[in-house]
Amino acid sequence: MTVDKLRAHYGLTRTPFSRGIAPSQIFAARTHKEAVARLKWLVDETAIGVVTGEVGAGKTIAARAAVATLDASRFSIVYLSNPMVGARGIHHHLVTALGDIPKFHRPALIAQTQDLLAAETEERRKTVVLIVDEAHLLSTEQLEQLRLLTNTDMDSRSSLGLILLGQPTLRRRLKQGHFAALDQRIGLRFHLDGLPLDETAAYITHHLTLAGRSDPLFSDDAIALIHQTSRGIPRAINNLAVQALIAAYADDKGIVDETSARAAVTEVTAD
Ligand SMILES: Nc1ncnc2c1ncn2[C@@H]1O[C@H](COP(=O)(O)OP(=O)(O)OP(=O)(O)O)[C@@H](O)[C@H]1O
Ligand SMILES: [Mg+2]
Repeated sequence: MTVDKLRAHYGLTRTPFSRGIAPSQIFAARTHKEAVARLKWLVDETAIGVVTGEVGAGKTIAARAAVATLDASRFSIVYLSNPMVGARGIHHHLVTALGDIPKFHRPALIAQTQDLLAAETEERRKTVVLIVDEAHLLSTEQLEQLRLLTNTDMDSRSSLGLILLGQPTLRRRLKQGHFAALDQRIGLRFHLDGLPLDETAAYITHHLTLAGRSDPLFSDDAIALIHQTSRGIPRAINNLAVQALIAAYADDKGIVDETSARAAVTEVTAD
């Protein structure tokens, strides 16, 4: 079976449910829009925000969408995709992102970071916003470093906005006693839920439309089964929908019906 034949069979101009999607192709789910709106507010307030959600819920996409709307002359966005960079790593990343060469010794590196942040605020009138993705992986020491970096009482010259994106365990972790100081300063907590059924259906249609298919392709009961199995988590919907499409094609069907969706569920949940 070739992908080309499958596409031709279903009148698709490209493979639907693909991973890389442009900001203009984002499906405006209610929870997504709310996350983006709150993140924008948070950045304006230079506060600390925590966005949690299951794997594949759309956290990274929401943060990127929020950032894309910001005025680049007012904000410097620093994005850390993986916090497994050690205790010095966050400072190292900030310094590099702000265009300097990180100093080697830790006290010097910390001072350098603070100077650069202050320069952004004072000289360029810019607010630095640090986005830490996969933040549930942050070590205790790194969380302490972040607390110090965002502690504007200590060093009022600079202001750093901080957005932590992570799996639901992040919230519990921040509730632990020694992070109380950081936890108290969190101005936004948002949990990105899975989509409700009507939006799972609209999401599937959205991706098919992007791939050039305007007529319905998935039956209602196929969508219901995909929704139930994915619990409305976008990446899980993508995986199931693709497998269901392949199953339907293998059976030479004109639409993706419940049998095809059931085959996909078996395929995706089998281990
Ligand atoms: N609003 C949306 N519109 C279109 N596609 C979406 C949307 N939200 C999520 N997706 C799809 O789901 C995938 C997962 O989204 P994303 O990477 O943002 O999730 P995540 O919560 O950051 O996952 P992880 O925990 O693995 O980092 C994306 O690659 C994209 O294909
Ligand atoms: Mg992510």
